[in-house]
Amino acid sequence: MRRTARALAILVIAGAAALWFATEPDTLPASAIEGMEGDPGRGELVFAAAGCASCHAAEDAEGEASPLLAGGQRFPSEFGTFVAPNISPDPDHGIGAWTDIQIVNAVMRGVRPDGSHNYPAFPYTAYNKAEVRDIVDLVAHLRSLPPSAEPSRPHEVGFPFNIRRAVGGWKFLFLSNEWVVDGGLTPEQERGRYLAEALGHCGECHTPRNALGALNRSAWYSGAPNPAGRGRIPNITPAELDWSAFDIGEYLTTGFTPEFDTAGGHMALVVQNISKLPESDRAAIAAYLKAVPPVASN
Ligand code: HEC
Ligand code: HEC
Repeated sequence: MRRTARALAILVIAGAAALWFATEPDTLPASAIEGMEGDPGRGELVFAAAGCASCHAAEDAEGEASPLLAGGQRFPSEFGTFVAPNISPDPDHGIGAWTDIQIVNAVMRGVRPDGSHNYPAFPYTAYNKAEVRDIVDLVAHLRSLPPSAEPSRPHEVGFPFNIRRAVGGWKFLFLSNEWVVDGGLTPEQERGRYLAEALGHCGECHTPRNALGALNRSAWYSGAPNPAGRGRIPNITPAELDWSAFDIGEYLTTGFTPEFDTAGGHMALVVQNISKLPESDRAAIAAYLKAVPPVASN
C-alpha cells in the first residue's frame, strides 16, 4: 500500500515536472541575429505581408505609410476578448525599450522579454515559419514608426485562460513549424506558401479550429465561422475557389472578384497590405492556392 502511494507520488511529481518543462518558453539565442543589420525598406514589405498594422493600428489611425501602432483593437474569441497591445516604439508604453532579439522572439516564438508566453491570438503560430532575416528587417521598420504613449489595455479573459504559463501547454500540443502544404511545389509555389502560411497567416481566418482554438491542418483553408460575428469566412481551397490564378492575383491587387464584387470585411485590409507587394509575390500566392488540397466546406 505504502509502496503504491510512493510510486503514485513519484509519478505525479514526474508528470508535473514534465508539464513544467513542456511549458517552458523556447527562445532564439541572441546569436541567431548576430551581425544582421535590419533594412527598414525591406522590412516595410515584410510588415505589409504580415499585416501587423491590421491588428495593431489605433482604430482611428491615419497615415497608411507610417501607421500609429497604439493597439486597442478587440479580438473576441471563445476564450474571452483579447486587446491588441501598443507595439509602437514608445519606450514606456510600446516596445521601444525591447532589444531586437526580444522583438524577434515575440514575433517568432510568442515569448515576451520577461519570459512569459504570448497568447496565440497574436499569430506567431504562423510567423514562426518566417526567415529570421525578414523579421530583423521588420524590426528595423517598426523602429521607424511614430511612438504612441497610449497604455496597452488588459485582455478580458477569465480563468484559466488568464494564466500565461498554460499557453506553454497549448504550444506543446499545437505549435508547429512545419509547412502544411508540402512536397512537389514549384519555386513559385514555395514563395507563395511562404507568403501565405508564414507571413500572411491566411489560415488564421480561412481554416477551422479545434475546441482549443488550434487550426485544423487537415481542413486547411476550407473556411471557418467568422469570429467577428455574422457569416462565414470562405473556403479558398480549389474545392470552392474556382478562379484562375490570374483572377486571384487581380483580387489580391484590387479587391475585385471576377464578378466585380469587392473584398469586404477583414479581407479588405488584407488586400490593402498584399497589394503593396511586388506583382510576382501575388502571382506566387495565387500559384500556391492552386496547389492547396481541395477540401469541401463543412
Ligand atoms: C490577428 C491580429 C494580430 C496580428 C496580425 C499581429 N498581432 Fe501582434 N499581437 C496581437 C495580440 C492580440 C497580442 C497580445 C498577445 C498577448 O498578450 O500575449 C499581440 C502581441 C504582440 C507583441 C507582444 C506584446 C507584448 O506586450 O507581449 C508584439 C511584439 C507584437 N504583437 C508584434 C506584432 C508584429 C510585429 C506583427 C506583424 C508581424 C503582429 N504583431 C501581428 C495581435 C496581432
Ligand atoms: C483577418 C481575416 C483574414 C485573413 C488574414 C485573410 N482573409 Fe481572405 N477573406 C477573409 C474574409 C472575411 C473574406 C470574405 C470577404 C468578403 O466577403 O468580401 C475573405 C475572402 C478571400 C478570398 C475570396 C474568396 C471568395 O470566394 O470570394 C480569397 C481568394 C482570399 N480571401 C484569400 C486570402 C489570402 C491569400 C490570404 C492571406 C494572404 C487571406 N485571404 C487572409 C478574411 C481573411
